Amino acid sequence: RIMQTLLWFYALSFCACAHAQLAAVQLNQTEASPPPPAEPGMWRQGRRRSTLADSCTTNAGATGTCLTRFKCMRQGGTVNGYCGTYGVCCETNMACGTTTRLKRTIIRNPASFASDTCQYTIEAYSANVQQLRIDFEQFELPQPVASAGDERALECRDYFEAGAFKLCGVNAGQHLYLPFNVAAGIDQITLTFSVPTRWPQTSWRMIVTQLEAPQTTTKRRTSTLGHFGGNSNSLQELRNIFASHHADYELLAPAGCQQYYTEQTGTIRSFNYQPAMGYPYMPDTSYTICIKSTPSASMIEYNFSKFGLSVQTDEVEGYDEACHATVHTLGRQEDYLLIPQSILARNTAYQPTYYCGTNDNLIVYAQPPYLVHFSSDELTLDAAQETGFSLTYRLRTSIL
Ligand SMILES: *[C@@H]1O[C@H](CO)[C@@H](O)[C@H](O)[C@H]1NC(C)=O
Ligand SMILES: *[C@@H]1O[C@H](CO)[C@@H](O)[C@H](O)[C@H]1NC(C)=O
Repeated sequence: RIMQTLLWFYALSFCACAHAQLAAVQLNQTEASPPPPAEPGMWRQGRRRSTLADSCTTNAGATGTCLTRFKCMRQGGTVNGYCGTYGVCCETNMACGTTTRLKRTIIRNPASFASDTCQYTIEAYSANVQQLRIDFEQFELPQPVASAGDERALECRDYFEAGAFKLCGVNAGQHLYLPFNVAAGIDQITLTFSVPTRWPQTSWRMIVTQLEAPQTTTKRRTSTLGHFGGNSNSLQELRNIFASHHADYELLAPAGCQQYYTEQTGTIRSFNYQPAMGYPYMPDTSYTICIKSTPSASMIEYNFSKFGLSVQTDEVEGYDEACHATVHTLGRQEDYLLIPQSILARNTAYQPTYYCGTNDNLIVYAQPPYLVHFSSDELTLDAAQETGFSLTYRLRTSIL
């Protein structure tokens, strides 16, 4: 029995490797030269390529899932192109008010809204699911407006809500991680769009992926093997399972990260940041952005092309005490970025932890772990200044 299990294990490892190679070759063929992350449109494409291993591009240029024709039909999808050597590029969509248990779901806005709320329920695909990753390929809702009760506060009349997140404005190219720990009792997540204004440009297109942890129990493996043994046509099935798990290991974020960047270089923007548009960032929002390390990197460089957060007073530089009081004071502005173990490139004697104010062309070096924590309060006193940040990061072996 043990020998048999071992043998199967070897066979499965082989399948997974073979498939990974196949995927790499396919990527090379389809992605000629990845463009630098400059424009929003290109930026989106860059993310799509790097994060979703079994995704494909449909004939219409959108993201689909590479599946067998049979699986695509079974999921109620539409075949819209081909991918790999055997697959079709499958497009699925979920209607408002429905539930899915698929590992990967594509959710687009409906052509017209039947009500002010559009809710999607995601149920766990397996007992090993740990996180939900949402990639926003398109995301356009009305901009936040001054609240009726307090003009110093902005609010999203129309919004997207998931977990503790409430987003509006423009967020194409962004992504989000939500804890979805089935073992800890969370077996479903609801994603809600509230659209009372019915703005005609409202649109969304999200790729929702359930990420599974490495298997800790043998339950699933045994059932998989049983299936494999009893069905001669399930090599494909196995490949799919292992390919997606393989990709999951790369994508699973450390606990507590709401965004996770896995490439060695990339662009990170605050929510609702659009170059040259001057849109405000989300009020009352707090989240952690993590960047995956590599064995060869010893530090990270953040190059901010834009940095505009609130600051309490213009008389001091926008670091530490100016950003973050240790005692809470009513009405004080406290928006900041927290970058642990960081120094300023232009004067390495400066070792701030909190950053605020306007700091254009700011370059910061930081030691591991690589994370940036964004925090905004409920006040927006100067919407023209409080537009957020855009940075490119680069893992480095040393400062020199
Ligand atoms: C991808 O293409 C480059 C050159 O275009 C080549 O050097 C590299 O080996 C290719 N990688 C794979 C996995 O085929
Ligand atoms: C930082 O980014 C700007 C463009 O936004 C670029 O001109 C500059 O050379 C970069 N600096 C470093 C040190 O990479």
